[in-house]
Amino acid sequence: MALILKCMNFDINKIRADFPILSRKVNNLPLVYFDNGATTQKPQAVIDKIVEIYTKYNSNIHRGVHYLSNYTSEAYENSRKVVQSFINAKYSHEVVFTSGATGSINSIANSMCQNYIKPDDEIIISELEHHSNIVSWQVQFSGKGVNLKVLPVNDFGELMLEKLPELISEKTKLISITHVSNTLGTINPIKEIIAIAHQHNIPVLIDGAQAVQHTKVDVQDLDCDFYVFSGHKIYAPTGIGVLYGKEKWLDKLPPYQGGGDMITSVSFEKTIFNRLPFKFEAGTTNYVGAIALATAIEYVQNIGIENIETYEKQLLEYATQKLSSIPELIIYGKAKNKASMISFLIDTIHHYDTGMILDKLGIAVRTGSHCTEPLMKRLGIDGTVRASMAFYNTIEEIDILYNGLERVKKMFF
Ligand code: ALA
Repeated sequence: MALILKCMNFDINKIRADFPILSRKVNNLPLVYFDNGATTQKPQAVIDKIVEIYTKYNSNIHRGVHYLSNYTSEAYENSRKVVQSFINAKYSHEVVFTSGATGSINSIANSMCQNYIKPDDEIIISELEHHSNIVSWQVQFSGKGVNLKVLPVNDFGELMLEKLPELISEKTKLISITHVSNTLGTINPIKEIIAIAHQHNIPVLIDGAQAVQHTKVDVQDLDCDFYVFSGHKIYAPTGIGVLYGKEKWLDKLPPYQGGGDMITSVSFEKTIFNRLPFKFEAGTTNYVGAIALATAIEYVQNIGIENIETYEKQLLEYATQKLSSIPELIIYGKAKNKASMISFLIDTIHHYDTGMILDKLGIAVRTGSHCTEPLMKRLGIDGTVRASMAFYNTIEEIDILYNGLERVKKMFF
């Protein structure tokens, strides 16, 4: 394995040195961080960028004639271009900065419910969805009689695509689906889903919260109508995210929030909204977060998303083999196409107990339902232990996890 990794285009020791938190200890043991699905750690370049902005340039954007405001405004708009190029959006004004993937979905749900989705309409989601792609719609639909139709998964945790045509009707107004399952790691065939939806003139929103950090995303190639993701899952700070929307949709939809910066003119009688993307960026946005997000994306681009994908696939393969060698361990999610995470249980040992013991050994995993209660119901369990890996994780850390799980077993059996 070490040999294969040596062929890769990056140096794992150098990469790890870029992330200061990775060298700390937890419970007097080296930290092994396998909770990247919840949030990723930040490279020094991102931390430095935040400090640099607050130390040297801080000023509100789009509002000043002075040097500092011009500087931050320019850096902010440049960040939009970095995101545009990262996801290959046609125009930079198709990139709207939000608070995160959840904020983006809620915003679209709100806008769509104002002038597009009407009582009795339907939205198709899937059994793999995170609560944010279920509840955001329910909140907006409340009392409006709009229905959610659900595309089921098979026992491997793959979407049953053959069932999609029977869910589609003239009432279907949107398909909103995750790119990668945050719980099982399944990579969904979104390009195929988008093509099917478009044959019926149905727009598609893709939740990319667990995807952009693992695989190349090209929104023009996918032809998705909306794509959302969070900064903190791609090595940027919390509180910043992206809503990509095709120009024709963002033009058509009304703003979901009123305030400063999203207007062209205001009177007590009538307000004229600003052009894209500002129409959707009310108030003072998280401009420091957006600028740091660009730094994080540039960091990822320097390593190369294809290199990251190849390396993480090797981690996944090794971890799957290693963990499968524990006879009592059940892996949930055996899709052919998976991102680098493994959800599992050891026999009847509660996920929380496993997580607590691993923590004592310095190993951070997530336990619980991972905000996917309907999926847990489908799997007939109430939670799993989830080890989600990033490109700074190593084969040696997987061995530490394996040894930790052997310790867990010894304590219970
Ligand atoms: N959605 C995040 C996760 O899957 C928090 O852990």
